[in-house]
Amino acid sequence: MRIGLLTGGGDCPGLNAVIRAVVTTAAIEHGNTCVGFLDGWRGVLDNRTRPLSPHDVRDILPVGGTILGSSRTNPYTIDGGPEQIVANLTEAGVDALVAVGGEDTLGVATRLAESGVKVVGVPKTIDNDLSATDYTFGYDTAVTIATEAVDRLHTTARSHHRTIVAEVMGRHAGWIALRTGIAGSAAAILIPEIPFDASAVADQVRSAHASDGYAVLVVAEGATPAEGSMSLRTGDKDAFGHVQLGGIGGALAAELEQQTGFETRAVVLGHTQRGGSPTAYDRWLGTKLGVVAAQAVADEDWGVMAALRGTRVVRVPLSEATGTLKLVDTAEYAEAGLFFG
Ligand code: F6P
Repeated sequence: MRIGLLTGGGDCPGLNAVIRAVVTTAAIEHGNTCVGFLDGWRGVLDNRTRPLSPHDVRDILPVGGTILGSSRTNPYTIDGGPEQIVANLTEAGVDALVAVGGEDTLGVATRLAESGVKVVGVPKTIDNDLSATDYTFGYDTAVTIATEAVDRLHTTARSHHRTIVAEVMGRHAGWIALRTGIAGSAAAILIPEIPFDASAVADQVRSAHASDGYAVLVVAEGATPAEGSMSLRTGDKDAFGHVQLGGIGGALAAELEQQTGFETRAVVLGHTQRGGSPTAYDRWLGTKLGVVAAQAVADEDWGVMAALRGTRVVRVPLSEATGTLKLVDTAEYAEAGLFFG
């Protein structure tokens, strides 16, 4: 069998681990060959490919990003897009597709699988908000990078008796903010799932200053105040209809400075969280997912996705990944709140 691989959506540390594992397992275990489509669904629409032999992927495990490139192209918003995908797979001599992506990329994979395309999925997002899998690779790296940054913010905030607001990624789910805030001993953590009261946050800042002489807060980019919106939205949308966020950290910093009188700065960690080499955990998880995806292809088990359940990687229906987002629940957030202020 000839397997096509693509990586779609925002890139993520660990993507190359998946590519390496699929290509190597397919060749050594099952005698299958692989070809890579460039830049997600865009590359399938344009029929742009690159060879993927076991030799090509030997040394990519620690490399960040994706050697295949990525895009947020949605073939279902393009006239004749899905038909073009099917025609180009045939033209490239591809029997089956392994799509590595988040809710958007896997949503397209699910629809194609329903229309008879032979697809297997691998879940990916630094946001860790995909249902049906306990963790997505990339999340551990993002949290590790963000925590290191927050540790550094503590020392400069302490020296200047300032408040620093660290804005991390997460437009719908606050997993990165929650774990970074716990690991980084934040005076407050603000997440999209629970609208925040700016005066209550100001109280937490005052309390942290009273105890420590400074405060460091972690806010997810998708967090919003309980009344009105403080986030600065560009209004631009990507091909999947997501509003591009950014600015809540700065807006909150201004509000807190005004309410508390403490000098306040905002730091947006942004794409730093997605760049660079994956942690050991993400290399391990990406590898396990890739092995299981290659096995599913060999078994001709279409419309499934490799998923982490506990410590095991299993196959689940693709549709389970994209039905609902996995969000932070209030009990987990309340537990983190024991350490606020
Ligand atoms: O891939 C998920 C993500 O990193 C989100 O956390 C973030 O909101 C978004 O991508 C940023 O997208 P872009 O790279 O297109 O600006």
